[in-house]
Amino acid sequence: MRVTPFVLPLAAQALVAPRPHMKRLSSQRPAAALEDYCPPLPEAFEAQAALTADGAAEAYKASLDDPSGFWASEADRYHWQTPFDRSNVYSANFKRSAGPIAARWFEDGATNIAYNCLDRQVEAGLGDKLCFIAERNDEGETSPLQPETYTYAEALEETKKLAAALRARGVKKGDRVALFMPMVPELAIAMLACARIGAVHTVVFGGFSRDSLASRIASAGATCVIAADGVRRGGKVIDLWGIAKDALASARDQGTPVAGGAVILRRLDDAAYPEPQLAADEAWWHNVVTSTDGSDVEWMAAEDPLFILYTSGSTGAPKGIVHATGGYMVGAGHSFRTVFDAPVRADDVWFCTADCGWITGHTYVAYGPLLNGATQIVFEGVPSWPDAGRLWRIVDQHKVTHLYTAPTAIRALMRSGDDPVTSTSRASLKLLGSVGEPINPEAWRWYREVVGDDRCPVADTWWQTETGVIQIAPTMASGAGPHKPGAAMTPVAGCVPALLDAATGAEIPAVIGEEAKGLLVLKQPWPSMARTCWGDHERFENTYFSYDGYYLTGDGARRDADGHYWITGRVDDVVVVSGHNIGTAEVESALVAHPAVAEAALVGVPHDVKGSALYAFVTLTQDAEGQAGDELAKELKLRARADVAAFASPDTFHWAPTGLPKTRSGKIMRRILRKIAAEGADVSGLGDTSTLADPGIVDELIASHAGAS
Ligand code: PRX
Repeated sequence: MRVTPFVLPLAAQALVAPRPHMKRLSSQRPAAALEDYCPPLPEAFEAQAALTADGAAEAYKASLDDPSGFWASEADRYHWQTPFDRSNVYSANFKRSAGPIAARWFEDGATNIAYNCLDRQVEAGLGDKLCFIAERNDEGETSPLQPETYTYAEALEETKKLAAALRARGVKKGDRVALFMPMVPELAIAMLACARIGAVHTVVFGGFSRDSLASRIASAGATCVIAADGVRRGGKVIDLWGIAKDALASARDQGTPVAGGAVILRRLDDAAYPEPQLAADEAWWHNVVTSTDGSDVEWMAAEDPLFILYTSGSTGAPKGIVHATGGYMVGAGHSFRTVFDAPVRADDVWFCTADCGWITGHTYVAYGPLLNGATQIVFEGVPSWPDAGRLWRIVDQHKVTHLYTAPTAIRALMRSGDDPVTSTSRASLKLLGSVGEPINPEAWRWYREVVGDDRCPVADTWWQTETGVIQIAPTMASGAGPHKPGAAMTPVAGCVPALLDAATGAEIPAVIGEEAKGLLVLKQPWPSMARTCWGDHERFENTYFSYDGYYLTGDGARRDADGHYWITGRVDDVVVVSGHNIGTAEVESALVAHPAVAEAALVGVPHDVKGSALYAFVTLTQDAEGQAGDELAKELKLRARADVAAFASPDTFHWAPTGLPKTRSGKIMRRILRKIAAEGADVSGLGDTSTLADPGIVDELIASHAGAS
């Protein structure tokens, strides 16, 4: 089914129509009060921006009027071994009432994303250009066996060698490979090596526990694991291989043979990590990357899966989000080039602090920058180590021009004051990006004025694992109008957002001058959208397409009178903690597995640095009633860490004396729990509680708030 193009939405009109009431901020601080603070694009940035507001608006309009033509010409930037059918660039169905949900792009085309990231760049003369610059956990640290930089030619060579080594271990097109590594260039190289031979990678963030890794290996049916021995994170050494080895054994116990065994990157030296004994089917990376023989490119159909990335949902186990080769490639390349005003000039240096364990690292470290021939930093450490000046020193040392990080990092660094920032130059910076959660206006302003010296615009970019690339972000175009702190603002090419009334499901018409609030949905198919949940298309349809004709994001949003979008946060049972999506159901089941716990419910509460923190309501079994307190809280935290991940451990435990507030049909009223968690004993305005089976429980919960651990 072909989807009809849509008319230019309000937000796009707003792009070319800056509103007169927005004030221009003088460069002298203190400046306008926060609520009036809406700075324009800084002049220094405007002077060098490649985009113009007219150009951006035209591109946006073209992407809606003629999606096929628009995306076909984007696809033409890449090598296609077999051309795609230009008379059928895409087909899609967003209506369950009309049949299975589907999106197909670049039908009949065959390509390879790794070839387009590396071989194509080398052939175009970029072989000697720096591709990756490693920045380790400790300043000045080097790796015993890995180089500190890779040119495009060197990255290609290493990718080919690893691809050949994977093939020698029996990995072939369509097989899944699980990656469990720190943020080193070799992680991106491992992703590219998989893509080169048509293997589907599934990267698991190095902060996950053995059980989380094992369940992902088993769910994906991985045939091989690529891990690292360990990594220094801040002052600690994390035993990644110890976790991976146990996870491998556990996945095998669950019936997944992992016939290709494991390849392990020797990242640390003997002093930090004594060399472990490896089994027969386990090998050191440096011992297997010996030859490029057998590294021929596997040409992939555009719709062949490129990767699976697990993300938490409101219920059940994490979902394996599947992205397809051709559409993801075209989307990632386009997004990186256009949203950030093409950080690919000869002296541009891109620095995205995200880990490849998340979608941001996939699109804006492994793929987007390479598809565009950019030079980038790959940072293994954390922004706070050894102190709050680390990021800014990296910026100065490598002359970083474009920095992309998360609000949680910005807020944490802001707490250390301006000195660690202002004692560095940061003169190379041109643009600052933000991703992962709503950025509060105070942090936005600090980022722009203190970090960016008011010379660099802030791009607050909204998107998701499922969207593959940025969907809503302010335009970095000369003349596009002021940026609003805290607003992601305008849709990018190909994106048609809308708001649905949460109560009725009806679309709220977009009218200039009228504000609206609702469920954020996307109406038009885009090339890099997720295709399915691995092995469970029904779950994909149920989760994302419950409203006929719309992709449901799971986020709430406000559209202001100018037509600009402000993301207000999740509307489901997912809590975003420090930019990590946490499915409350997953953590609850970890807590309930403890013999003392009868029932548990988790909610998110506002947190100054993390954005949201996890707050657990726990009812104990009769036998364990006397155990409520700090000791048990500690045990339960450890359990959440072990079963899910350290970042999924609740901050607070509220011991619910007699139970949790439930409706007569047995559903926990989380709305009430969220309010009590956030407001404590002074909570008011709990709304309608008439459907509760036992309203007395609410008073007990309020009274017991003070006893939380
Ligand atoms: O709630 C939104 C929030 O992060 C969710 C997506 O998380 P994930 O799939 O892990 O991808 C994170 C990186 C793209 C969204 O549903 N989110 C992401 N970016 C923003 C955001 N919320 C507000 N503003 C943002 N810029």
